[in-house]
Amino acid sequence: MSIIVTGADGYVGWPTVLRIAKRTDQRVLGVDNFARREWVASVGARSATSVAPVEDRLAAAEEQGLSNLSVIEGDLTERAFVDRLLAVHEPEAVIHTAAQPSAPFSQINGEHANETQHNNLQATRNLVFGLHEHDLNDTHFVETTTTGVYGAPEFPIPEGGATMENDGERDEVPFPAMAGSWYHLTKSHDAANLRLAHTQFDLPISDVRTAIIYGAGTDETRADERLATRLDFDYYFGVVAHRFAAQAVAGYPLTVYGKGEQRKPFVSLEDAVEGLARLALCDPDDRPEPHTVYNQTTRAISIVEIAETIADVGAEYDLDVSVEHVENPREEDETHKMEIEHDRYDRLIDGGSVDFETGMDEVLGAMTEQAAVVTAHEDRFLPDVLEDRED
Ligand SMILES: NC(=O)c1ccc[n+]([C@@H]2O[C@H](COP(=O)([O-])OP(=O)(O)OC[C@H]3O[C@@H](n4cnc5c(N)ncnc54)[C@H](O)[C@@H]3O)[C@@H](O)[C@H]2O)c1
Repeated sequence: MSIIVTGADGYVGWPTVLRIAKRTDQRVLGVDNFARREWVASVGARSATSVAPVEDRLAAAEEQGLSNLSVIEGDLTERAFVDRLLAVHEPEAVIHTAAQPSAPFSQINGEHANETQHNNLQATRNLVFGLHEHDLNDTHFVETTTTGVYGAPEFPIPEGGATMENDGERDEVPFPAMAGSWYHLTKSHDAANLRLAHTQFDLPISDVRTAIIYGAGTDETRADERLATRLDFDYYFGVVAHRFAAQAVAGYPLTVYGKGEQRKPFVSLEDAVEGLARLALCDPDDRPEPHTVYNQTTRAISIVEIAETIADVGAEYDLDVSVEHVENPREEDETHKMEIEHDRYDRLIDGGSVDFETGMDEVLGAMTEQAAVVTAHEDRFLPDVLEDRED
């Protein structure tokens, strides 16, 4: 038996395979088509950290005693590849992190929207059908979807479905697809497809709605520089906190639109990886329900708090960071206070362990070490063509 992690070359997938391999003697098989490396290069950007070739990553992992880990190259949108993968390895769990994960990349034009939706939806469908068709109906399927599937409603976000009322009758229904980008909508569709896969194939599903992740690494990736995970900071692939950190390192003021009090959910890389590792290795009897939604976040944070935290922590790195409020060019509620339930995820990881300040300290540390790379790519902080983005 084995555990498969898709997207194993990615920001989340790589530290996740390392953590799982460290905790089990089972074979841990990572799968990736290395598309993320090409996508980032295609927008003229690069990771602040050096991302070692996969052979070097694996050699370094072996030196750390992880001889149960391997990574194979393959495209999950190819059905024949997925069929072979599942038939040969008969996984006990599949941790599915492979995706085109950037909203602004999916918004560039119709071609990028097509590529994103085709890639993400086809990969997930191939995996769930593959499990079913190879009689692997007990395999735990875990996917990192996104908290973006909820949009930004005016009421507290539940950890899963919603209650709907019509004509005096009420029922529990899946949360509406309120995603705000072509990428985020792939995860709304995936969430609906996962629900159907559970209903039709009886597959145990954990739909992990991942929040915006901050952090530069985990214990495992810090053990050797060849094990470092990627840390993108450009407009298309850097999340808001990492882009702000890069701007601070390059000497730019941090620009907050209007009040900047609107909050978004966040989670540290450490707390995200820990939850995925626990789900990969959990006893079936310990899962709350055969189809469970987790809101993979530890806290909602406002844009202005992100900027002010970076300014405070930046002082420790001798960065003189100013926070500027400018008139908001977007039509948005600058004071929208998102509230999101995450009790179930908190229980899974026994509460978060890396707070935002600590995570940003680590990110600023990694980026100041690579200040020359960050500064050389400062033209990548902004899009080529101005358009709105949602993290
Ligand atoms: N990083 C975040 O802040 C964040 C927030 C919400 C949700 N997520 C979700 O978490 C997951 C991991 O995100 P990430 O930041 O590590 O992204 P990432 O791009 O670094 O990792 C995804 C990996 O999947 C691979 N991949 C993509 N399509 C593939 C295919 N067809 N076949 C094989 N491999 C393929 C890529 O090459 C990449 O290495 C994604 O599902 C993403 O949507 C991430």
